Parts: sequence; C-alpha cells; structure tokens
Amino acid sequence: KKWEGNYADVYSSIHTHNDEGVYGPTLLGTVPDMDESSALSTLQAACDAYDKGQGAWPTMKVVDRIACMEKFVRQMKTRREEVVKLLMWEIGKNLPDSEKEFDRTVEYIYDTIEDYKQLDRDSARFAKHGGVYAHIRRGPLGVVLCMGPYNYPLNETFALLIPALIMGNTVVFKPAKHGVLLISPLLEAFRSSFPKGVVNIIYGRGRVVAAPIMKTGRVDVLALIGNSKSAIALQDQHPNKNRLRLVLGLEAKNPAIVLPDADLDLAIEECISGTLSFNGQRCTALKVLYVHEDVVEEFNKRFADRVDALKFGNPWEPGVMLTPLPEPGKPDYIRALMDDAVAKGAKVINKRGGEQSENYIFPPVLYPVSKDARAYQEEQFGPLIPILSFKSIEEPLNDMAESNYGQQVSLFGQNIKTLAPLIDTLVNLVCRVNLNSSCQRGPDVYPFTGRKDSAVSTLSVHDALRSFSVRTFVASKDN
Ligand code: G3H
Repeated sequence: KKWEGNYADVYSSIHTHNDEGVYGPTLLGTVPDMDESSALSTLQAACDAYDKGQGAWPTMKVVDRIACMEKFVRQMKTRREEVVKLLMWEIGKNLPDSEKEFDRTVEYIYDTIEDYKQLDRDSARFAKHGGVYAHIRRGPLGVVLCMGPYNYPLNETFALLIPALIMGNTVVFKPAKHGVLLISPLLEAFRSSFPKGVVNIIYGRGRVVAAPIMKTGRVDVLALIGNSKSAIALQDQHPNKNRLRLVLGLEAKNPAIVLPDADLDLAIEECISGTLSFNGQRCTALKVLYVHEDVVEEFNKRFADRVDALKFGNPWEPGVMLTPLPEPGKPDYIRALMDDAVAKGAKVINKRGGEQSENYIFPPVLYPVSKDARAYQEEQFGPLIPILSFKSIEEPLNDMAESNYGQQVSLFGQNIKTLAPLIDTLVNLVCRVNLNSSCQRGPDVYPFTGRKDSAVSTLSVHDALRSFSVRTFVASKDN
C-alpha cells in the first residue's frame, strides 16, 4: 500500500555533483518516515496475522509454508542487479562483496528450507520412555521484531527474518539505517509470497518506531544484530522481560594471536582481510593483533607496507578494497581513536595511515598500543588496526579472559604441540577458534554465536530454526 505520510531522504556517503553542480553526498531516494502510531498499526497487523497462534500462517502446513518461501526466493533472485547496486551505493560495499552478500542470502534461504524439511521429518518420529510416547515438534513463538545491521543490511536482516518466518512466527522488521532502500526491490516479492500481515516493515528512527512497539509487551522475540546499546534500550522498554526471547548478535573485539613460529606470509594476508575487508565494519573483523615479540618487527614492517598498497576507491572499481564509509561521523571517530593511541605512546607505523577525506580515513596501523588507549578498549568497527606485542601467551589469554566480549579468535602458529593445548583454552574463552585463518561468520551452516556481551542465542542455518521456535510435544500413555 502506498505510504501517505512523510518521507525521509536517503543519502549515500559517495560524493557526486548534484543537479546544481554542488559536490557532496548523493541523494539516492526516499523512504517512509513513520511515526509511533503507524508503527503500532504495523505491529497490530503482525499480531492479527499471528492471532494467538491460531492464524493462517502459524497453523499452515509445512509444505505450504515452504511453497511461500520458495516463491519469495524465486522472485528475489530476479532483483539481484538492483539490490547489488544499492548495496554499493548505500553502504559502500565493493562489487564482489555486494554480489557475495546477495548470493549468500539466496543460498541461506535455500539451506534454511532444506533444514526445515529435515526438522519436520525428525518431528514425525515418536520417542518412548517409561511407557509414555512423545511426539516432539517445534512450534512458533509469536511476533518477532527483527532489526539487522548496516554492514549486512540484506544478509543479516534475512538471517533473522527467514528462520523466524519459516518457523511460523509473524514478523515486524526494521531495515538498517544505511541499506534501507535495498529492501524496496523486494517489497513486491514479500507482498505476493506471504499472507497479509505475516511480513511487516517499519521505517524510521528506532526510538520513534521500535521502542513503542516493545513498550506494548506484544513482541515475543527481539531479534537484533547490532550494538548492545540498542539491544539493551529495546529490551528495557518491554514490560515483561521474562516473556521476551532474545536472539542477539552483538559486538566483538576479536583478536589475532601470532605465535613465533607462524607462517608470516599467511598470517599477514589473513590479518589484512581479517582487519580490513569491508573497511573493518564487521562484527567478526580482527580488531586487535597480538604478535609475539620475536617476530613483531618483521610482521609490522611487512603488514604496514601491505596496508599502504591497498586501493581506495568507489565500490564498483576493480581491485578496490577500501571504500567510502557509510556513517558520516566515522572518519572523525577513527581519527580520535588514532590520536588518543598516539598520545598514549603508539606510533602510526604505515605511511598512509590517517590520510583523511570527507568520507574516508586511510587505516592507521598503530604500534605499540597501550591497554588504556581507546583503540584497544573500544570496538572500532572501522579501518584502524591496533597491534600489541607479547612475550608470554598468558598475556593475550588474560586479556581475552578479562574482555567483555567472547566471539572468535584467530591463532597463527605451526607447531601442533603448542597449538593443541592452546586451542583447548581458547574454546573456553570464545566460541570459534580460527586456526591460521581470519575470523568470519561463514559457512552459514556453522553456529554463529559468542560468549559474554557478544551474543545471546545462536544463529546459522541449523541453529536459527531452533532459536526462533520452542519444543512442544504430545504425550500419550502406552495403554
Ligand atoms: O558483522 C558481523 C557479521 O556477522 C560478519 O559476517 O564474517 O561473514 O563478514 P562475516
């Protein structure tokens, strides 16, 4: 239905000349600027469609729900070019990564459908214990509020939305602030594939549209990938937190540990992609490097040169890794972290580190970074690389144990006798240990989660179906 209220402009941080010849952020389009009452009507639509578990969607046969999802993904695939283009313009993601985000999302939907079929086959089995038969199934939870982040506005929004939907929940989702337009080419696919009220979209600022929805107490699941501050603020609005299920992918400060016997060529390449793919704007990015003192000098020199050789440009230009940052305040924030680290004893060890333009700052590589520097303490979520050296492995291990985060670590070394006990320790500090490779979320069939403040619940194809449902069973006696 055509929106009849106000619209908000959406700008790209990529600068161009406008019609008047003025050079600046490019106006890409407009989206509805909803107010509280429009957001509440959207929630009402989701509640009506769920209808206390009696609605057409939560009671629909598995095969029919799958047919809706298949119809959606078929239509989605026809809009690849538009969505990829918007990914580049809205968030500055380079062409190969934008294409990968789209294709990965399509694959995620197909894998989810397959996993859901398997779940349904499993639920056809009966268990029997102590003379009681149990027919165990999984049922939906209710109304889900989904909010994805700007760094994966398609993929991570859908990593919440798709499993929530297929399990029979109804959904209100808020597109990410940057990456909001790329939902538009998919609206018709949503409308024609799912029954009315099953998928609902809210646009606008979180505190205007999402907070009032939470305040009603009618949201059963808060599914958010983003920062802890937003997650906590939204949870706090809910009048009965015990009834609210959380599916949260939050912040991280994933370290790399480079041992003295590491293959430095490999470690450097993995640390380049780990720290700087999509300009370090990934929760899984490597955000601090610990390098053993025996190899730190050589590592730093080669790493810094390698960073300086990276190409900055517009996302569609070939070979470009560093691209404009979508958040207007980000270059200044990164500079503030850099200046603070330098004031506390670090040096910028690469020649180009800190070169700044209106929408970018060239990644500063900082060494040695003090632990009281903001670059060490904050999740930079951008192009800045703090390096620390260590003598004893206890140093990074203690830091990880004290950290508020616990998502992943990368470990570089070659001697299995050293690595094996270390891995046993590391898996109790984080949820994924990447051996001689950078941190990452995929392949999406593996569990994606974290300890401490990094996550609540688990995402991935397999686990997300469980995160968005509850186990139920019908018991009957053997008589
Ligand atoms: O921002 C966090 C994302 O889940 C990172 O995913 O490792 O596939 O880039 P990725």
